[in-house]
Amino acid sequence: MDESEIRRAAELLRAGDLVAFPTETVYGLGADATNDTAVARIFAAKGRPSFNPLITHYAERAAAQRQVRFTPLAERLAERFWPGSLTLVLPRRRDSEVSLLCSAGLDSLGVRVPRHPLALALLRALDRPLAGPSANPSGRVSPTTAEHVREGLGDRVALVLDGGPCPVGLESTVLDLTGERPLLLRPGAVTRAELEAIAGPLGAPGEGPLKSPGLLASHYAPSLPIRLEASDVATDEALLAFGPNPPPGAARTLNLSPAGDLVEAAAHLFAYLRALDRPGLKGIAVMPIPTAGLGEAINDRLRRAAAPRGQALPIAGQPS
Ligand code: TXA
Ligand code: MG
Repeated sequence: MDESEIRRAAELLRAGDLVAFPTETVYGLGADATNDTAVARIFAAKGRPSFNPLITHYAERAAAQRQVRFTPLAERLAERFWPGSLTLVLPRRRDSEVSLLCSAGLDSLGVRVPRHPLALALLRALDRPLAGPSANPSGRVSPTTAEHVREGLGDRVALVLDGGPCPVGLESTVLDLTGERPLLLRPGAVTRAELEAIAGPLGAPGEGPLKSPGLLASHYAPSLPIRLEASDVATDEALLAFGPNPPPGAARTLNLSPAGDLVEAAAHLFAYLRALDRPGLKGIAVMPIPTAGLGEAINDRLRRAAAPRGQALPIAGQPS
């Protein structure tokens, strides 16, 4: 790890600039979360509807606890899953230094301690909450390499810290702990079963009041139309395959996991969607993916990629 690169990244962030950084899930578009102007730059760079709240990142739980009020359940979940791919939505402290823009008008804040060594090194050097949505233009597939970030955001970011491909490849699970019952706002890298083992049955966002208005089904959309549950494929289609026996005949095939392994499939999902999303084809056919474990989050992202553009959200989970 390049210490001077980390120091430079932290200096840029302190000066209010944007720095993209790797996490174990996807690359984040980082800004000093205590600086309103810097946070506003995130929305501008992503072209994101400003009512969608941002996750804030910390080097350790104690730092997150200075910004939000933990419940006993939040403590148990943090104990088990941090550092890692779980975002907890908790009530903001009255004296929180985090920009209200990160909460997008809600009285809650999303907090997470990531596991990636570069992210942790950056957070320690910065020593402030780091706002970090996925580092893609709004509505596009999340970046899992530094190259993806440069393609999507180019010179809108001062620096891209390159940590190689993200090992998990799917965004964090977002769990809302502000109500009576924990709500799964976005299925993600930590599975429902893992959470329910500690938290009991999870509610879905539809069951409570709508917590975040920025819900568009067509987030994560590639340019080509997506056809789900494909058992055959046309010669003018690309095929996103899964498992040992993909149908033959596609213009181009990428297999998420020939062995049928959901962890491997998650790690490849966004990079393969991008690679297949090239002009000249009719669309991308996607083979059925099992819904167990990480399959819930994978199928959620694929449904969004397939949804008509701009449609309101009919299913659990949150975009962007
Ligand atoms: O894996 C990840 O979570 C990545 C890495 C960079 O940490 N970040 C990420 O952030 O995916 P973003 O902003 O693209 O997605 C955050 C999701 C959004 O759907 C947002 O609406 C939801 O979390 N969220 C954040 N804070 C929230 C809050 N206070 N209340 C409700 N939803 C919130
Ligand atoms: Mg995102």
